[in-house]
Amino acid sequence: MDDRTFSRRRFLIGTALPAAALGMGLSAPAAVEAQTAPALMGPEPVDVMLQVNGRAYPLKVEPRVTLLDALRERLGLTGSKKGCDQGQCGACTVLVDGRRVNACLTLAVATEGKQVTTVEGLARGGRLHPVQQAFIDNDAFQCGYCTPGQICSAVGLIAEGRAGSDAQIRESMSGNICRCGAYTNIVRAVNAAARA
Ligand code: FES
Ligand code: FES
Repeated sequence: MDDRTFSRRRFLIGTALPAAALGMGLSAPAAVEAQTAPALMGPEPVDVMLQVNGRAYPLKVEPRVTLLDALRERLGLTGSKKGCDQGQCGACTVLVDGRRVNACLTLAVATEGKQVTTVEGLARGGRLHPVQQAFIDNDAFQCGYCTPGQICSAVGLIAEGRAGSDAQIRESMSGNICRCGAYTNIVRAVNAAARA
């Protein structure tokens, strides 16, 4: 377009955007920068092979995609829950090579070549995992939203040898929040599973 043909549309864009930015509390230079900055684009999707619950899943994901979103949105494994999405509640806890991680803070691409286990992968041959059974036997949930994360966390901490006492279980699972306050029975269930 010829610079001399300064259309009404261009004029409106040139004045409305800085005004809107100023309305959002940006300084004048910041407003101009906001107007002229190119749209932020992430890197292109990359091929990744996730190993989840003993099965290989070839995926194409942007490097910024979290393991939690890949599990839930791409693989349909919705057992792992999204609570806070910022590492505060533990609802998304899964096991990566047997260690507990917050899937919302873990990039999917970073788990390539590792074994991811979600709550869907704990049962064997139609039998619940002993921790799952202990949660049922001890009535260790109410709404159940935190339960998959609690169970994965419990499986991990028992394997780590950190279920020696109620106090140790409470300490080791302090990153798993239960809004229903089912803590007493959760500790009882983990204790029972650890002794079983
Ligand atoms: S959703 Fe990951 S810690 Fe809360
Ligand atoms: S059982 Fe409801 S949040 Fe834990």
